[in-house]
Amino acid sequence: MKRRDVLNGLAAAMAVPAMASTVRAQNSGQQEPGKSASVEGSVALVTGSNRGVGLGFVKVLLARGAKRVYATARNPDNLPNVVALDPNRVVPLVLDVNNSEHRLAAAAQATDVTWIINNAAYPGSRIPEERRIRSASALDDCKQVMETNCWSPAEIARLFIPIILNNGGGAIANVLSAASWFCLPEYSSYSLSKAAAMMMTNGLRAELDRDPILVASVFTGGVDTRASPAGSSGGISPEEHAHQVFDSMAQGDTDVYAAGSKRMRDLISADPEAFERGRIKRFYENPLTIRNHI
Ligand SMILES: NC(=O)c1ccc[n+]([C@@H]2O[C@H](COP(=O)([O-])OP(=O)(O)OC[C@H]3O[C@@H](n4cnc5c(N)ncnc54)[C@H](OP(=O)(O)O)[C@@H]3O)[C@@H](O)[C@H]2O)c1
Repeated sequence: MKRRDVLNGLAAAMAVPAMASTVRAQNSGQQEPGKSASVEGSVALVTGSNRGVGLGFVKVLLARGAKRVYATARNPDNLPNVVALDPNRVVPLVLDVNNSEHRLAAAAQATDVTWIINNAAYPGSRIPEERRIRSASALDDCKQVMETNCWSPAEIARLFIPIILNNGGGAIANVLSAASWFCLPEYSSYSLSKAAAMMMTNGLRAELDRDPILVASVFTGGVDTRASPAGSSGGISPEEHAHQVFDSMAQGDTDVYAAGSKRMRDLISADPEAFERGRIKRFYENPLTIRNHI
């Protein structure tokens, strides 16, 4: 095929603007044919399970009948409180998701896993300029965000896919964000990483299409945690969020809308340019920041 034909083919395939096509696919309410994932009887590993959304996942996994939960955190001091929820079913593991030795050790120990919940994330530096593309002194922090929020979940999925298959199948839930669909200019690197993680999840889903693993993109809206926007009070609890995610995955959904993200998606879909202008206006006039940077 001539180069011009290839380019024409690509242009035809990409004729619909990226955001519109993403939103349209999600509007169709994608479901994995024949796949659904129930928490009951599962053996789950949750990254960043010591607080916030991750701790909510652990509590709800236990409440909904998971057989075992590997509660992981990068700081071992944070794990006893999680184990205390149910010492018979919660197994603590030290896992800094960016540490390959930790990842390998987790996969060597947790050989009965059927569910992976890639939840841990780094929002970016507490110095606002370092979270952006133009103003960053270097892109080191942005790259760290990408590593933590996209490549490390990919590495974890790669390690655990054979384990899940060996155990008869299960699920991988990648916790993304409504910010996968647009750029929060105050947190450009975070949006960038979540958009990339969304595509990483799509790629995994395609590769696992013929395998008994449900690959879910969890589009989270507002949950009340340390990472909520300062001054916000509209988020749901981490436990309610986890219930929404598990209800949706039990129905076989691959695009999981939790904590109000569907409203956000509909708003973007109605007028993407106006939505972006609104983000830019806020960036200059009343920049958003999260409650508690690490
Ligand atoms: N809260 C929301 O409204 C909201 C909205 C959209 C998406 N989300 C997504 O939900 C997930 C959890 O967010 P959250 O609100 O619970 O945030 P959070 O309260 O800031 O918790 C982040 C968790 O990630 C862990 N973590 C960070 N870097 C890590 C690393 N390298 N290795 C292992 N663990 C690491 C943290 O551990 P330490 O305690 O050691 O720091 C903590 O447990 C994230 O994927 C986030 O993007 C949340």
